[in-house]
Amino acid sequence: MLSKTLFAFGACAFLGVSATPWPFDLTTISAPDGSITAKFVSFGATMTELWVKDKNGKLRDIILGYDDNSLLLTDPAHPVFNPIVGRYANRIKNGTFSIPITKLPQPDGPNVYHIPTNDHNGEASFFRYPVRRISNLKSHQDTLHGGIYGWDRRNWTLVLRTPTSVTYKHVDTADEGFPGNVTAFATHTVSNGGVLNTVVRATATEKTPIMLTQHIYWNLDAFQDGSSDILSHHLLVDASRVIDVDGDAIPTGEFIDVGGTPFDFRQEQKIGSRWNDTINLCGGGCQGYDSCWVYDHPENNRFGTSLWSDLSGIRVDIATNQPAVQVYTSFWMNTPRKVVHGGPSLNYTKWSAVAIEQEGYIDAINTPEWNVDQIYYPGKDFEWSSTYKFSVVK
Ligand SMILES: *[C@@H]1O[C@H](CO)[C@@H](O)[C@H](O)[C@H]1NC(C)=O
Ligand SMILES: *[C@@H]1O[C@H](CO)[C@@H](O)[C@H](O)[C@H]1NC(C)=O
Ligand SMILES: *[C@@H]1O[C@H](CO)[C@@H](O)[C@H](O)[C@H]1NC(C)=O
Ligand SMILES: *[C@@H]1O[C@H](CO)[C@@H](O)[C@H](O)[C@H]1NC(C)=O
Ligand SMILES: *[C@@H]1O[C@H](CO)[C@@H](O)[C@H](O)[C@H]1NC(C)=O
Repeated sequence: MLSKTLFAFGACAFLGVSATPWPFDLTTISAPDGSITAKFVSFGATMTELWVKDKNGKLRDIILGYDDNSLLLTDPAHPVFNPIVGRYANRIKNGTFSIPITKLPQPDGPNVYHIPTNDHNGEASFFRYPVRRISNLKSHQDTLHGGIYGWDRRNWTLVLRTPTSVTYKHVDTADEGFPGNVTAFATHTVSNGGVLNTVVRATATEKTPIMLTQHIYWNLDAFQDGSSDILSHHLLVDASRVIDVDGDAIPTGEFIDVGGTPFDFRQEQKIGSRWNDTINLCGGGCQGYDSCWVYDHPENNRFGTSLWSDLSGIRVDIATNQPAVQVYTSFWMNTPRKVVHGGPSLNYTKWSAVAIEQEGYIDAINTPEWNVDQIYYPGKDFEWSSTYKFSVVK
């Protein structure tokens, strides 16, 4: 009887693993003190769950996602739930750049590269901006998040796993029309005291732009206690400037001084504190935020963005080696929630979450006047790192 039970248990455990074959194989890592548990799949080196303690010591899963992780590949809405985004995060004007970089329009030549366009009228379509204020490009064609099949939709391989960390590898062989091969290793680590750290290192075989982010959607209440949006979350961003963009969300080369604008989070504000002033701020018909803040103190790798909720008491402080951060309050979201968040009969919708994306200056490869160098090559490797420190406010 005993051996039969053990056998059944063993078989179940085995089936539990094989039910999610690679690249959707699930890896769980936990800090020894139980303060934090994170789950990942190989696909996109994506985080699928993140459990931290609220002010009552109860664990909550504070990131958006799917119960069926294969939807990361197949969901046509493609909200980009918590993967590593590359080879070039955010937008590339007209899906075009040159090396060395120059301003568009570039005459075609051997140093001009075209990446498939998937924003606005592009094919693979995650339409964050159906209508923006003014459109400069007749065709509305830009690349978003590395192309149609960016790094977030690639089958990374698991190369190393411990109880507290997991490392995935991705080899990008001139995919999507970028020059040269790039090999990337992403390592996620959790440690005592509620700390998550993610590091991505990438090497290139020839000159190429690299600009990465980790695209985590946060809701620190986890849709409990009657809460369904992030408007009451407090946000702090150590930045006096936001990158000014045109109607296609492409930089104009100018910066907006946040003083006296709804972009000013140098002192903490509730995300919704100036909500009526955010109408059309993230595009025509869009209310909320979707902009790139430039950090005032990027050199120190110090905590540049903080987010917390009085309801759950959960607070996250984010430090990074990146110079900027995109904050997007998920206006265009409409996708069924995880069961743990009240799904699937309820959807994640506008303002359900805030994506906080540590990254480089957006489309610096088409904005030479900034003198921001995002070109990597043999001998010049790329490194992205962020630390997320969780605590509670009472
Ligand atoms: C956009 O890229 C296309 C090729 O993909 C090119 O024909 C066109 O001239 C470019 N437009 C601008 C404004 O650079
Ligand atoms: C990645 O894995 C998925 C699911 O098994 C498969 O459909 C797809 O073809 C794979 N992609 C690549 C580029 O190998
Ligand atoms: C880049 O990857 C391709 C495809 O695997 C390979 O044929 C080529 O030799 C690689 N180039 C370099 C410089 O490693
Ligand atoms: C915001 O706009 C709504 C709808 O127009 C209005 O009812 C509300 O009073 C406004 N709130 C503030 C704080 O101005
Ligand atoms: C939830 O999202 C799905 C997928 O976008 C959509 O088909 C469905 O209509 C949505 N449900 C509601 C209640 O909006």
